[in-house]
Amino acid sequence: MALAFCSLRAEDSFKPGEIWPDNKGVHINAHGGGLLLRDGVYYWYGEHKTKGSGGNVANVGIHCYSSKDLYHWKDEGIALEVAPAGSGSDIEKGSIIERPKVIYNRKTGKYVMWFHLERKGRGYQSACAGIAAGDSPTGPFTFIRSTRASAGHWPEGYSEALKNGPVRAAGKNFSGGSLPGQVTLDELNIVKRDFDRGQMVRDMTLFVDDDDNAYHIYSSEENSTLHIALLSSDYLSHSGKYARIFPGRFMEAPALFKREGRYYLLMSGCTGWAPNAGRSAVADSIWGPWVELKNPFQGKGANTSFRSQSTYVVEAPGKKGNFIYMGDRWNPGNAIDGRHIWLPIRFENTQPVIEWAESWKY
Ligand code: GAL
Repeated sequence: MALAFCSLRAEDSFKPGEIWPDNKGVHINAHGGGLLLRDGVYYWYGEHKTKGSGGNVANVGIHCYSSKDLYHWKDEGIALEVAPAGSGSDIEKGSIIERPKVIYNRKTGKYVMWFHLERKGRGYQSACAGIAAGDSPTGPFTFIRSTRASAGHWPEGYSEALKNGPVRAAGKNFSGGSLPGQVTLDELNIVKRDFDRGQMVRDMTLFVDDDDNAYHIYSSEENSTLHIALLSSDYLSHSGKYARIFPGRFMEAPALFKREGRYYLLMSGCTGWAPNAGRSAVADSIWGPWVELKNPFQGKGANTSFRSQSTYVVEAPGKKGNFIYMGDRWNPGNAIDGRHIWLPIRFENTQPVIEWAESWKY
């Protein structure tokens, strides 16, 4: 009996790219995910995918798992369920719910979840954030609303010339991966186009700083530019203060972490489900200036980030300063079979470096 049980259990090591069984022996179904640490327990929230290519839309909801050591994960069920198909809810079955992240608000005692939300049947055109909250880390979370970002607010340092300038974005076709030809980002002035409605939100993450300020980091302006937005003190809305970083660099899949007082970002380029070379950046202040560094991946396969895309960075339990890269190896043809690529991050001065390992421990 004991032997049979052991064979179902994940081992005390990470095996990037392999099936990763939970406590029931089922491959962990939490993609584009993020972690929350509360009272010595890690909670992993991610997209619950289903079989086939139709499994990339939200058919079920956001799945939650818990662990004390990051190796063994207990299935905690669906933390946020989709609403029934046809209900007209923003999060109805068949909508797109991606890259959920959960943070805990010490003042209100609420667990707050943000995710990238696309309303059903509209492709990636809604470009909204969804917000949900709950009283327990495992849920249930209640959907509150969907929103664009910071409607009616200009980003930090946006020039008067652009605020008062023309908008050439109207009527242009955006591929999501590059600008329409022969026109610059400033000429397009997407920020001004979206000023009243609010800025677009696609790939995203959350980050809580040591002073409890929380930030929403998301791909905006037709994916061309990352925004960093300060949240309100209850974490349930944008505060109105935000900055644009890496304009025109088409950064996706942001994962933000802090090490020795500096802020780091791991990101990808913008090529849909297909992997590309990773990117990294460092800053002394979260508002920047952000300095882009090199592709953090090194060795064979570095140009596709070892066939993965960043989603989160976590510090290893009890090993201060040991950071772990969490990435997704998407399987768009059979979404449920997406694999988790977790690898150690080492630093060459400020440059994060990630190398392949078949099997490793922190
Ligand atoms: C990726 C993005 C994923 C998902 C996918 C859809 O670039 O990181 O979260 O949106 O595109 O094609």
